[in-house]
Amino acid sequence: MLEPDFWPTPSPPAAFAERRRRLAARLDGPALIAAGESRPRNFQGNRFPFRADSHFAYLVGSAAEGAFEGAVLLIDPTRATLYAHPPEPGAALWTGPAPSLDELAARLELRVRPFEELRAPPNAAVLPPQETETALVLGELLDRDVEPGGGPALTGADAALADAMIALRLIHDEAAIAQLREAAEVTARAHRAGMARTRPGLREAQVRAAMEAEIIACGMSCSYGSIVSVHGEVLHNERHDGLVAAGELLLADVGAETPEGWAGDVTRAWPVSGRFTATQRALYEHLLAAQLAAIGAVRPGVRYLEVHRAAGKRLLEGLIAEGIFRGELDGLYERGAAALFFPHGVGHLLGLDVHDLEDLGDRAGYAPGRSRSEAPGDRYLRLDRELEPGMAVTIEPGFYRIDALLSDPARVGSLEPDLDRDALARFSDVRGIRIEDDVLVTERGAEVLTAAIPKRVAELEASVGG
Ligand code: GLY
Ligand code: MN
Ligand code: MN
Repeated sequence: MLEPDFWPTPSPPAAFAERRRRLAARLDGPALIAAGESRPRNFQGNRFPFRADSHFAYLVGSAAEGAFEGAVLLIDPTRATLYAHPPEPGAALWTGPAPSLDELAARLELRVRPFEELRAPPNAAVLPPQETETALVLGELLDRDVEPGGGPALTGADAALADAMIALRLIHDEAAIAQLREAAEVTARAHRAGMARTRPGLREAQVRAAMEAEIIACGMSCSYGSIVSVHGEVLHNERHDGLVAAGELLLADVGAETPEGWAGDVTRAWPVSGRFTATQRALYEHLLAAQLAAIGAVRPGVRYLEVHRAAGKRLLEGLIAEGIFRGELDGLYERGAAALFFPHGVGHLLGLDVHDLEDLGDRAGYAPGRSRSEAPGDRYLRLDRELEPGMAVTIEPGFYRIDALLSDPARVGSLEPDLDRDALARFSDVRGIRIEDDVLVTERGAEVLTAAIPKRVAELEASVGG
């Protein structure tokens, strides 16, 4: 490890009790919140790691606690009860002693009963679970169809429960912010370790390993599949077998997740050799200016769409300055010029998930009455609300040379005469860069939770190769 030891701090039981109380106060009737199950791989005993559903983790605690597998929290206006499966005596041989339900109750400061005692009120509301098994269990408990995530639009009490959870989880409480800070700190360690490990001749997997080693050693896990690639233009690149060569930029999108499930989500791009070329540096500086413009726009009351546009327009200004586009900024932006190189939204909600609350679709990300824009530059935006203190968002503009977009007449369309392909060809050593930070909206503006991670050109150059 590069730095002194770090270990995560658990939130106090009172923080979860307060969340349960606030949820109950928003509900007219009972609700069931399911933890979900781990999925088996090739047989029942060989399973993917358990990670509780985020709504459950928000209200009960530790996301990876095995005792929560298959558990259901019943919240009614007067009290909350966790129905959990008592540890099987034979399982201790394989997985060690597990807490009894009484021990769990004492630790959580919550009433805990055996799952078989659960008599679900027939009018209980539920949220769409992620897997079919849990949907079937809830359907049986309630004697009605429960669709897994991605099913039809929510109605009635289920919709009211979703809206109540969204209202709570959009604005982070003190315990949540403490968790996000810890996720940010460990994410920062991972990125510094990745920069230090980088040198020509490695494979991407070796840099990824250095980054994830830091996260694991700090008692955390990854909040999503790491992207560590010299092909930054592949937005969610899952390959790590490429060689890291001098002259290339390496993009790393890696985040730590606390044991309670809170996420970091950060991207940096740095030169493998430790020095940006003049062309890499020019585009990197424009992208950084775009990212800083977007962060500068974050404050209470500002519509996130405007933060997105601030980034797109500043990037486009840079592309015009480099001669890649010819013409007038606003007109080019409205016609989708920025989106040709920055074909995604400027960010998303961050919290218990890297794309927080997206299990509830645009119901969470979009203010009531709003829906996705048809405009080419705005249609991939995952969040379009007015920002409020306590919200956490990512700010992550990118610049990508994606041949599939640039050679598609349907995408380039009327922009072809404005695009100078010879000027663009000068930047052939930039495939894809993204700069992503985690930002907390404050009363006065914004706090960048991940500010400790090198981002300026000089800082990055000083950090590569140790
Ligand atoms: N790491 C996924 C994202 O940035 O959205
Ligand atoms: Mn992100
Ligand atoms: Mn990311």
